[in-house]
Amino acid sequence: MKKIRWGIIGTGRIANTFAQALKGCPDAQLYAAASRSSHKAADFAEKYGFEKSYGSYAALAEDKNVDIVYIATPMASHYDNCILCMENGRNVLCEKSVSLNSSQLEQMLECARKNKVFFMEAMWMKCTPTYLKALEWVRSGRIGKVLCIRADFSNLVPYDKSDRLFDPLCGGGALLDVGVYPLTLAADLLGDTPDSITSTMNISNGVDMSECITLDHGDAFAKIRCGFDRQLKNDALITGDKGCILFGEWFHCTDRITLFDTDGNVVESSHLPVRINGYEYEIEQAHSCLYNGALQSDLVPHRCTAAVMKVMDSIRARHGFYYPGEKAF
Ligand SMILES: NC(=O)c1ccc[n+]([C@@H]2O[C@H](COP(=O)([O-])OP(=O)(O)OC[C@H]3O[C@@H](n4cnc5c(N)ncnc54)[C@H](OP(=O)(O)O)[C@@H]3O)[C@@H](O)[C@H]2O)c1
Repeated sequence: MKKIRWGIIGTGRIANTFAQALKGCPDAQLYAAASRSSHKAADFAEKYGFEKSYGSYAALAEDKNVDIVYIATPMASHYDNCILCMENGRNVLCEKSVSLNSSQLEQMLECARKNKVFFMEAMWMKCTPTYLKALEWVRSGRIGKVLCIRADFSNLVPYDKSDRLFDPLCGGGALLDVGVYPLTLAADLLGDTPDSITSTMNISNGVDMSECITLDHGDAFAKIRCGFDRQLKNDALITGDKGCILFGEWFHCTDRITLFDTDGNVVESSHLPVRINGYEYEIEQAHSCLYNGALQSDLVPHRCTAAVMKVMDSIRARHGFYYPGEKAF
């Protein structure tokens, strides 16, 4: 089978991690890297063995030899970068959160449909063997009816004005950066649309630093905490009427889950170590879609990405927290 020729836009932290995974995927060809600066693009390309480097994102988007572009820029750039690539006929895997808001995402999905290109949020958690094992346990009834989810993703990150995490112009803030993971878990297990949402939000220096969120789904609910201003254990617990599933710390990328009965006895433990660094599974998912001509992934469907974005819009609107240039929604 023909290898998939990858292009990467942005050469920051996650682009490096992703390139390491790409190198270990036999079906991937490290084709081109693009940066806003030619020398950064050239250094990145040389470091990982990409054949080409471009000093502009547009040049990569226009290269017809690129089968798929991985977009690894800050949130506020995703809309422009994705539209640029898709209007040029490129397939796209775009980092989370895939846009700033639902209005942008709707336009991005429309652009993907119009240009008949593959589009997927790089929600790598949903492609990992451990996450899929947990879904399999839930869907086969091992814990009965899901009643409650508790999931945290909160790190203590030292304030750095120059870091995109703290820059409103980059789409900084905790909800879109880390809150998206527990919200995605909740949407997968409780459904796309909560009956109601309650939340607290701490805002400092123009970005949201932490949230405590309750999603009420009638007879089930999710309790989610996310942030940059406190260190939590970042595990997750899914409780049903016949048992529960505990994800180890850093639930979004743990390789360990444990199934308990309602008396707290261990029923089964799962340990599924990742092959490279965990990002290989979203890469393989994108490959599988491209080989099969699918325009979206069953594991990360557009519907789910859009549903989580709507929840994040709704939380931000409750607290009047908008990014520069956004109209209130
Ligand atoms: N899946 C995961 O586990 C994971 C982990 C971390 C981050 N992420 C996501 O990946 C994206 C990038 O995060 P990151 O931590 O890698 O960010 P980062 O280290 O700041 O890198 C972002 C890169 O984007 C480019 N860029 C374009 N416009 C920019 C701007 N206005 N300001 C700063 N950089 C700009 C830069 O590359 P050039 O200078 O080369 O153009 C920069 O190196 C975010 O959406 C984030 O949520 C995902």
